[in-house]
Amino acid sequence: MPVVSGSSGRAIAESLAPLLDMEHLELISRRFPDGEGYVRVPSESIESVRSEPVVLVSNTYPDSGVLETILLLEAISSVRAGELSNYKGLEPQSLPDVGSEIYLAIPYFGYSRQDKRFSPGETISARVIGDMLARCCDGIAILDLHAPAILEDLSVPVEFVSAMPEIAARLSNEVNPDFILSPDKGAIDRASEVATIGGWDFSYLEKTRIDAHTIEHTPKDLDVNGKVVAIVDDMISTGGTICRASDALHKQGATEVHAACTHGLFTAGAISRLSNHVDGVHSTDSLPNPRAVVSTAPALARGLRKLMG
Ligand code: R5P
Repeated sequence: MPVVSGSSGRAIAESLAPLLDMEHLELISRRFPDGEGYVRVPSESIESVRSEPVVLVSNTYPDSGVLETILLLEAISSVRAGELSNYKGLEPQSLPDVGSEIYLAIPYFGYSRQDKRFSPGETISARVIGDMLARCCDGIAILDLHAPAILEDLSVPVEFVSAMPEIAARLSNEVNPDFILSPDKGAIDRASEVATIGGWDFSYLEKTRIDAHTIEHTPKDLDVNGKVVAIVDDMISTGGTICRASDALHKQGATEVHAACTHGLFTAGAISRLSNHVDGVHSTDSLPNPRAVVSTAPALARGLRKLMG
């Protein structure tokens, strides 16, 4: 059975394939000079892609990733339907339809934070993208989606999987924390899962976002004096949330503060900003980044096994 990838999912697909007893195949994905995308199932992979159910690993980030994911799903779908007629007249032109059975594994689902119409006139981008993807595949496994409720009733089954067990293992082996902190209410479920796995103390902060670069935490007494603390969130973008939470922890006597997240976006200057506020940053490889130390493959494998029965 093949695990296939385009430009965004190669390394993860390579780690994922052996966990599912499958083979990894690279699909062709490149850019035309004007920036438009081009994808193709290479001739030597057509038989494999038609032989058994297919898993595509692909991120919907950045914007080009959304389009590439859809184009790849369509290319796989045509191959499986046996629609091979082509301008060059290369044979075969058509083959029997072998059925769809295409599963999509999304390490990082871009646009996940636009999961509501916060102001009139907005679109709910997460849902728009979810609906588009659902039209092109038979099931989707999504890693640590910001707020799963928005995709719960898609037209295909969705498995929401989490890398928190692997993050807990990383913290246990490399940090040995005493205390886990969720930097806002939205991360409570994930961070408390890590705390439960490790048997560590847990608390959370309440955060107000002023704008994309500014956040405020409501002051709260935390029992962290003399303790090693890990802040756990689903994603780090500007690093503002983590830096402010870390300041609060240091003020209350924490001796060491680490940050852990599934999705390391690390937008402009985040890594150097974080290095002034925390002792270590631990991210998964859902996005390529210099702090990617936790593999997402085991979590995606858990979801795909359920999807494929
Ligand atoms: C928001 O609710 C998310 O869970 C993260 O806390 C947020 O996206 C982090 O963004 P930043 O690093 O820019 O503070």
